[in-house]
Amino acid sequence: MSKSQTSTPQTPEEEIAALRQQIVHHEHLYYVLDAPEISDAQYDRLMNRLKALETEHPGLLTPDSPTQRVGGKPKDGFAKVGHSRPMLSLDNAYNEAELRAWAARVAESLHSNDTLQYVCEYKLDGLSLALHYEPAGDTKGGARLLRGLTRGDGSTGEDVTSNVRTIRSVPLVVPAEKLKVAGLPPSFEVRGEVVMPQSAFVKMNQEREAAGQSPAANPRNAAAGTIRTVEPSIVAQRRLDFYAYFLLHGEGSERGEFLLPQQSRALAALRTAGFRTNPNTATVLTIDEVLSFIAEAETKRDDLGYEIDGIVVKVDATAQQRRLGFTGKAPRWAIAYKFPARGAITRLNDVLFQVGRTGKLTPVAALEPVPIGGITVARATLHNPDEIARLGVRIGDYVAVERGGDVIPKITEVVEDKDHPRGTREIVFPSRCPRCRELVVRAEGEIDFRCVNASCPARLSEELLHYASRGVMNIEGLGESMVSQLMGHALNEPTSLADIEAADMTGASNNATAV
Ligand code: IVH
Repeated sequence: MSKSQTSTPQTPEEEIAALRQQIVHHEHLYYVLDAPEISDAQYDRLMNRLKALETEHPGLLTPDSPTQRVGGKPKDGFAKVGHSRPMLSLDNAYNEAELRAWAARVAESLHSNDTLQYVCEYKLDGLSLALHYEPAGDTKGGARLLRGLTRGDGSTGEDVTSNVRTIRSVPLVVPAEKLKVAGLPPSFEVRGEVVMPQSAFVKMNQEREAAGQSPAANPRNAAAGTIRTVEPSIVAQRRLDFYAYFLLHGEGSERGEFLLPQQSRALAALRTAGFRTNPNTATVLTIDEVLSFIAEAETKRDDLGYEIDGIVVKVDATAQQRRLGFTGKAPRWAIAYKFPARGAITRLNDVLFQVGRTGKLTPVAALEPVPIGGITVARATLHNPDEIARLGVRIGDYVAVERGGDVIPKITEVVEDKDHPRGTREIVFPSRCPRCRELVVRAEGEIDFRCVNASCPARLSEELLHYASRGVMNIEGLGESMVSQLMGHALNEPTSLADIEAADMTGASNNATAV
């Protein structure tokens, strides 16, 4: 921060160079190290001054300037580009025995006198990206971001460079001095994971719902959808993070794929070069230590602010990695230890019914609120009558609830033991629509019950929301709040059978249908 305060740049060129250096420095502190040293207002002042100077002197504007993260949008979707080397997936282990079996296979394939070291990393639940850096083309000898590709089918990805540039934890330029300290050539490839932090995910879904769009099911889908958005300014508004975990030689190199002799050194070099790497990483010598790392990660998992779905264990030495090689689709030198789904047992207090656009009645479980993995779960989907029959669930039952990466939890089974007695109330589907009270029908061979009243207010408001949504007419402003105002009632909240029956007491008789 001190440089521009102590020296007064003489020419616009010098001032621009000094501002860029400061902004890049503060972005690194803020977005990569989570350790800002100046306030947002101070940062904005630097940025505004730079923008003003660049507008005044357009000849001094360069594509790598921090003001140029949001550039032009791709015209016809994203170009398909082949990967330098395939982007593979990982084999999974679901328990200690499978993890030990993997380690035994590794030891057996390597010479017995080899010492083995493992790197434990978090398995970030996002999508992988390959970033290509090339010589910056100026006299200073740095590297610049050339291209960012999605994984695609593993051999060909999509060129999402314009969106990747908006991710503040991705350096647009790695200056020569940093390359030197990190021991990197100016041409290299970084692979890593794009994730959407939970807070950004909640915000995005609130905005989507307000605009009448369906919410994303989980942060991974949200990140994947965002990185493939054709409008970089939208991508820039959503907070995405990139964590680097793999370092390769640049394309065309004759020297094999690994750049450094150890994965642990590659991570350190990436950090030195200005990339964000996950701080929760350990280099260990035994599977017992790997297991302690896993146990500790499970305790930290709920407080990270982003989703992880396991631990990746990698053989540290790249010479050993090379000897171990690959199976068809995954390296033998790494394994993903997957966490079990997070769950809890709670009571099913009631079943509510929701009417969709097509009139479909969806049963929603109203649960005794229970914390699972950092959030309080009070609702779960029951999908349809067949699912209720499959589970054999009754109101008052205790049920096992699991939350995967998805926002909407699932009921996996009914629990029955001396502490958890069975419930007694059958789940019945209403014979009348919870909203308009017309008779519902279950057509021959159909799973679902439907309200077939074309002027049912619940169906109409869902229809209107769908019509205005981005995928259809894309009418901005016609979201949930506007639709509920227009329709004169709150939107499609699920209704309990008791409420439906109470309402029906005043009207026609209600012969509810048991499932
Ligand atoms: S290494 C050759 N490290 O998990 C494969 N992958 O199931 C190199 N992932 O496609 C992958 N965190 O998207 C690696 N620390 C990590 C990871 C990680 C998440 C993802 C990655 C990969 C998938 C495999």
